[in-house]
Amino acid sequence: MSNRWQHERKGEFYYNKAKEEGYRSRSSYKLKQINSKFKIFNHAKNVLDLGAAPGGWLQVASEEMMDEEGLILGVDLKEIKSIHIDNVDTIVGDVRDIEVQQEIIEAFFGKADVILSDMAPDVMGQWDVDQYRQIHLARIGLKLCDTLLKVDGWFIVKIFQGGEHIKFIKEMRDMFKSVKNFKPLASRSRSSERYLIAHHMKKDRKLPEEFRPKIDTDEEEDNEPIPGDQLFFEED
Ligand SMILES: C[S@@+](CC[C@H](N)C(=O)[O-])C[C@H]1O[C@@H](n2cnc3c(N)ncnc32)[C@H](O)[C@@H]1O
Repeated sequence: MSNRWQHERKGEFYYNKAKEEGYRSRSSYKLKQINSKFKIFNHAKNVLDLGAAPGGWLQVASEEMMDEEGLILGVDLKEIKSIHIDNVDTIVGDVRDIEVQQEIIEAFFGKADVILSDMAPDVMGQWDVDQYRQIHLARIGLKLCDTLLKVDGWFIVKIFQGGEHIKFIKEMRDMFKSVKNFKPLASRSRSSERYLIAHHMKKDRKLPEEFRPKIDTDEEEDNEPIPGDQLFFEED
């Protein structure tokens, strides 16, 4: 049996299963398998789902969570058709946009227990560029963890293996006490897709370089004369 054939059959199997069982995506089974191994939704009240369209992960999160009072917020560039579940809300927007990030933070009264990111950019066909764009989206999720995730929360993020992902795993380790690499059965075996399963934020965590506040070291600008300065020049 060829690998390609197995690969296609697996995709087809989960596609048909999702149709039969009323899930909006094949990916739903990836989240189910992540949860059955790591129990990320045990005691979860508030969940953020980045890249949530068409809504398969939102369906799974709402089924697995015991607490019906909390919030499940899905964000995507594309509109997500209503899920008709009271505590599920959605935002249409680009998570790279600072205003969208602010809207997400304000939507939670307090902190999130779980942050999910299944985001993937549209593929442009140039592998290293596509991979960099993918990791950039994953880093936005990491940045949101710093503000929004509870210390003992979970961050689940999709990555594609390539050069940049090694640097990203190191950044994840700077932020979390535990970071595991997991490939759910429902993920096609030939794809380089992996999920990083991170738990428990470090107290002394460090955000990736690109999000750290810049310290102004431009002394020349500070020394520029301002009007009136000459009044304080000392005479020889
Ligand atoms: C694989 S799909 C997610 C499937 C989803 N987990 C489900 O089960 O229904 C990836 C999603 O990421 C979204 N996405 C990509 N870039 C984004 C961005 N910058 N901001 C928000 N969403 C983005 C895409 O629009 C797409 O819907």
